[in-house]
Amino acid sequence: MSAKEDRTALMEKIVALCKRRGFVFQDSEIYGGQNGFWDYGPLGTELKRNVRNAWWEDMVSRHDPLDAPTGAPSTYQMVGVETSIIMHPQVWKCSGHYDLFHDMMVDCKQCKARYRADHLQVRFGYTVSGQKPVVAFSFMDGSDETKWSTGKQAKLQKETTRRANDQSVPQESSPVSLPEYLHQIKELFQVSDVPDELLPSCPKSSCGGQLTEPREFNLMFKTIIGALGTDDDAAFLRPETAQGIFVNFKNVIDSNRVKLPLGICQIGKSFRNEITPRNFTFRSREFEQMEIEFFCAPGDSQQWYQYWRDRRFAWYQNLGISQANLQLRDHHKEELAHYSIGTADIEYRFPFLAEGEYGELEGVAHRGDFDLRSHMEGKLTTGPDGNLIVETNEHGQPKYRGSGKDLSYFDDQTRERFVPHVIEPSAGADRATLAFICEAYYEDEAPDDKGKMQTRTVMKFHPRLAPVKAAVFPLVKKDGQPEKAKEIYRELREAGLAVTYDEQAAIGKRYRRQDEAGTPWCITVDNDTLSDGTVTLRDRDSLEQVRLPSNEVTDEILRRMKS
Ligand code: GAP
Repeated sequence: MSAKEDRTALMEKIVALCKRRGFVFQDSEIYGGQNGFWDYGPLGTELKRNVRNAWWEDMVSRHDPLDAPTGAPSTYQMVGVETSIIMHPQVWKCSGHYDLFHDMMVDCKQCKARYRADHLQVRFGYTVSGQKPVVAFSFMDGSDETKWSTGKQAKLQKETTRRANDQSVPQESSPVSLPEYLHQIKELFQVSDVPDELLPSCPKSSCGGQLTEPREFNLMFKTIIGALGTDDDAAFLRPETAQGIFVNFKNVIDSNRVKLPLGICQIGKSFRNEITPRNFTFRSREFEQMEIEFFCAPGDSQQWYQYWRDRRFAWYQNLGISQANLQLRDHHKEELAHYSIGTADIEYRFPFLAEGEYGELEGVAHRGDFDLRSHMEGKLTTGPDGNLIVETNEHGQPKYRGSGKDLSYFDDQTRERFVPHVIEPSAGADRATLAFICEAYYEDEAPDDKGKMQTRTVMKFHPRLAPVKAAVFPLVKKDGQPEKAKEIYRELREAGLAVTYDEQAAIGKRYRRQDEAGTPWCITVDNDTLSDGTVTLRDRDSLEQVRLPSNEVTDEILRRMKS
């Protein structure tokens, strides 16, 4: 098997396990499902809740504002908010989402399939023999399908012949995105519209229809407020939780006696009408974000940016993602938003990506004062001198008016007033959950009940994330063993642990069921328990089994949870 086939096969196994064991289901599956929407089953719900809880505990509730964590420039405060999914429409006008939050899409004129233009990669070149421009078309995800089309117009043929005979012109370009290809073709042939025959054909091998030129498609879901609502009452489901934090900045400062540096955190659903949702839950239309907007003095913002980049990268590793599968990638200058001083993506080597490719888990962005200023003054744009200015309409008025409220901050120590700068570590709860699932998936060999070696599938979740922390079994359903096992089970539950009790099937089968669910420890009550009071404690990863007194089980599990 090639590396690519290995990775595809691995992803298929992970998706199958997610469905079989109740981690993730296709939404509305009994009606045929909905593309881009997913439901979590019982194990997945616990797992995702643990991901969210780990984030909230580590970022907010266990943060000590009196002591600066390692690497932090100073002490700081962290608080939480929970804001509305549907916000005032002006929010999205001032933030830029109303005008700018779009993807370019192309449609197949024949089969009507829709693609995100920047997801399509094009190679093109000039053949000497045919003397025609040829266009190769392939998906970025590594699909080998390529399509070649040829230019028919005399003008094109003439230019192509010239280029084909020019030794300094490469015979074939390296892959470029579809918009870049179209741009190059327009420049090359000095045309404002790309000739039909040079529009690449549909990547579906069975179709071959022609694609349209890219068009803008706003990703925000629209809805109407009120029973009599018209289009004037249109509102949007939030595409990010961040704006709920910005518009409440002043409220939080004024109501909580908090000072800068301050992180305001939020976990919640966001919605984007993605053109091509794909790769399981990775790109969904409804998903959950875990966002921090960290407000600080402009002069300190570079230091805080470095701190949050490193801190957030370490968070994934502390929860079990291996360094080999994780990278912190700084954006190139061209990738940065015009107002951003720096952005770094934390990326995971998801198995559905081609070998060597990484997918974004979280972005850590230095956003300067862009957001608070936008909500004060109105939508900002870059002025002729490169500075941010309020965008104006044809009458010289602000295109979208801001709130007009003063969102600056007065530092009573330095006696300075300034619009705070923002560092934004923005993570996806579903993407993190998917990365933890992919990382946990593991196969090894272990003996079954008859001592025969069998493939064992184990989900090696970090104990903090594991949906179930321990399972308790009686070896047999008699001789007082179920009663004793239930006693231990109840004690563990009372200690606040998620535990399960299982007395069905042979013991080996029960272990395997828990291995697949990712349960770190299994406790078995047997004949000896009733005579000497000890039980077996089995470790999911090492398969090591130790005996310990049954009344020490809860303390031992709690101890192991902490180590
Ligand atoms: N406030 C900044 C912001 O929203 P983003 O990079 O667009 O930035 C942040 O989104 C994170 O949200 C991403 O790193 C990703 O984890 C998650 N995310 C974004 N779009 C998503 C989608 N369609 N499906 C699942 N997760 C998504």
